[in-house]
Parts: sequence; structure tokens; C-alpha cells
Amino acid sequence: MTDRPTDDLTWTAAWDRATGEERARALFARVLDAEPDGVWSAPGRVNLIGEHTDYNGGLALPVALPHRTYAAVRRRDDDLVRLVSAQEASGVREVRLADVAPGTVDGWAAYVVGVAWALREAGHDVGGFDVAIDSCVPFGAGVSSSAALEAAVAVALDAVHGLGLAGDVVDGAATDDAGRAALAEVCVRAENEIAGAPTGGMDQAASLRARADHALLLDCRDGRVRHVPFDLAAHGLALLVVDTRAPHSHVDGEYAQRRAACERAAGLLGVATLREVADDPAGPDGALDRLAAADDGAVLVRRVRHVVTEIDRVTTFVGRLEAGDVAGVGPVMDASHASLRDDYAVSCRELDVAVEAARAAGALGARMTGGGFGGSAIALVPADAVERVAGAVATAFAAGDLRAPAFAVAVAAPPAG
Ligand code: GLA
Repeated sequence: MTDRPTDDLTWTAAWDRATGEERARALFARVLDAEPDGVWSAPGRVNLIGEHTDYNGGLALPVALPHRTYAAVRRRDDDLVRLVSAQEASGVREVRLADVAPGTVDGWAAYVVGVAWALREAGHDVGGFDVAIDSCVPFGAGVSSSAALEAAVAVALDAVHGLGLAGDVVDGAATDDAGRAALAEVCVRAENEIAGAPTGGMDQAASLRARADHALLLDCRDGRVRHVPFDLAAHGLALLVVDTRAPHSHVDGEYAQRRAACERAAGLLGVATLREVADDPAGPDGALDRLAAADDGAVLVRRVRHVVTEIDRVTTFVGRLEAGDVAGVGPVMDASHASLRDDYAVSCRELDVAVEAARAAGALGARMTGGGFGGSAIALVPADAVERVAGAVATAFAAGDLRAPAFAVAVAAPPAG
């Protein structure tokens, strides 16, 4: 057991916009030897509730973070993409758009050229470009650094190639949600087909379609959104993000397995998505009984039970927020974590330690956020207890011989622009 002082906690600060834009511009000028046409940026996200529901046609409730990825971009007149990232030591990479296809590009570049590829697949006239990336969205923290990268590139290409989809952002709100929904779909295709990650659409929607001071209620059955006022400070509360920094090596395979289990269950039940089970006025028990008879019934029952109860929890959470009972969302967060840990089996020791320590130190509720197996937890805490709760989590990590976590405070920030 190690004893670590808690007064030197690691906080992951968001850059202000001018700083982020200047960093990307300066990198572009230094490495690519020209001035960019402009700098665009897009946020990471935390999901308040509604986990592993997006690929089941369910509900999710993310907020955009103030942490953003910045892309300085200059249009080219050929089909070459030259890319450089401050987060990568590998220097400038070059990819011809004509050569991009599933499996041809690896690493972070796949997210960038994947967006251009997916725009072309959707019929948009997109050519080459030079791009320099810098980011304060922590990588591997489960706060969607990949979606932030995709969305920043998407709005940049929208602008330099004159696609007219992204619109503007006025007072923290996007002016053209339909155009952004189309861009979000493009980003999902880039991630699924070029980067090869079978994720749902929540992260891209959050980055492109969220609104400042609001949570984004996303209905993944039809892509519709509603903006739910989310101003914790007005209620004397804050949202603490704990980046567990847990090494999570098998994430992709486990994620794909969960998704496949849901699809198998939907197939056995004869429904298009598990949303239909969640919406059944008779409740899910009949469906769960039928699944129990399958060879892998015990596992399928737990997975489906998580999905349907989680969709229900999103509705409860939003209802309490809208009724002004913000503290009342705490127990809903706790129930979500238990379901993800016990039924969906996507938590890990670090996430469990984080939520338990946060609650013991006075959090009103806490849960893992994002895909799981590492990444981040979120805790709803009294505004004057942020440091104390963070300290308690750090102490619990030290006592458990876990790598020191990093912290951030989430406020609902503007979307990509
Ligand atoms: C990851 C995926 C999302 C979503 C979450 C779980 O973040 O990228 O699409 O499935 O996991 O809710």
C-alpha cells in the first residue's frame, strides 16, 4: 500500500479557444510551411446516462466537454492529404484519397482521411487537404477523443470544400442541426469502416450536435435530439470526471462482443433493435424469459436487461432534471453503474473504486461513462466538495496500488465549429 499526498492531484485543464487555435495554426505553419485556411475544433464528451444504448436504437444523454481537438486545415487542389499531429512523433504522413478503403490506413490518420472518404461516399465533392492537429481532449480516457478528431475534420472539410452542412454556432448552439446530423453519420462511417471500430453514434452526435449549457437527449432510433437544460452550478453542484488511466487493452474486442450479443438477442426475439423490447408496454419480462431458453440465455438475459433498464433510466434522469430535482439524478447514476458492472460486465476495478470512493466522500451519485473497461467515471458532487471528493478518489487509488487518476470538471460546452 502506498501513501500518496492528495494535495497534488492531476487536473486535465481545457485550453481556451484562442490557445487551441493558435497551437494548431502554429504547428501547421511550422511543419507544413504555409498558413492554413482556418482552424476548426470539436469537443470530447461525457455521457450522463444511457450507456451501450446507442447501437440498440436507445436513448443517451451526453454533454460536450470544454476539452477540444483543433484542426488547422488548408484545401489542396489534388487528392493528397498531408497530416501532422502534435500528439504523434511520427512527423508528416501522406495519404492519397484514391487509396483510402477499409483496412488501408492505420492509427489516428484513419479517423482523418476516413472522414474525407465517407464524405465522398456520401456524394460530396471533397478533395485533398493539409491538416495539423492539436488537442487537449485526453486520449484513452473514454471521453471520445476519436469523435472529437472526426468532428473537427468534418466541420473543417465542410468549410474548405463549401459543403454547407455545418452551419454556424451562435451562442453555443448549432444553427443547422440537420446538416450536422448528416456530418455525424459521415463520422460514424469513417470510424466503423476506415478506423475499424464498431461504435454506435453517440459520440459523434455529441461532438457535432450538443449545445452549451444543455445535455443532448439523443434518440438513436431516429436520430432526433432534444436539448435539456443542464446547469449544475445553478443548483450548487458540479460534475467531477475521474480519468482512471486504467490500461484497457481488450476494449475493442469486448465492445464488439457486447454489440454482437445485443444483435443476437434482437434476432432471437424477432425485433429490429432492443429498443422495441424497452418500449413494449407489457414490460421486458416476456422477452427475457424467451431469451433464457437459448444456449447462451443466461448471458443474453443480463445484457438485454441492462439495455432496457438503461433506456428507462435515461427517461427517469431527464424527467428529474426537467422537474428541477437535480440531486434526484444521483441514485439513477448509481443504478446505471450497478447495471453496467453486474449485467453488462463492462466495468473494471478502477472504475468501481472511483465510484465507490466518490460516493463515500459525499457524491450524490457516480457511474462509469463511455464504453467501459477503463476510461472515465463521473460523479455528481456538491460544488464545494469537488476537491475533497477528488482527493478521496486519489487516496483510494493509492491505497489500492492503482495508477494515480486524473481529474476534470465537466460543464456543458458548445459543439464543433
Ligand atoms: C463508446 C462508443 C459509443 C457508445 C459508448 C457506450 O463510447 O463509441 O458509441 O456505444 O461506448 O455507451
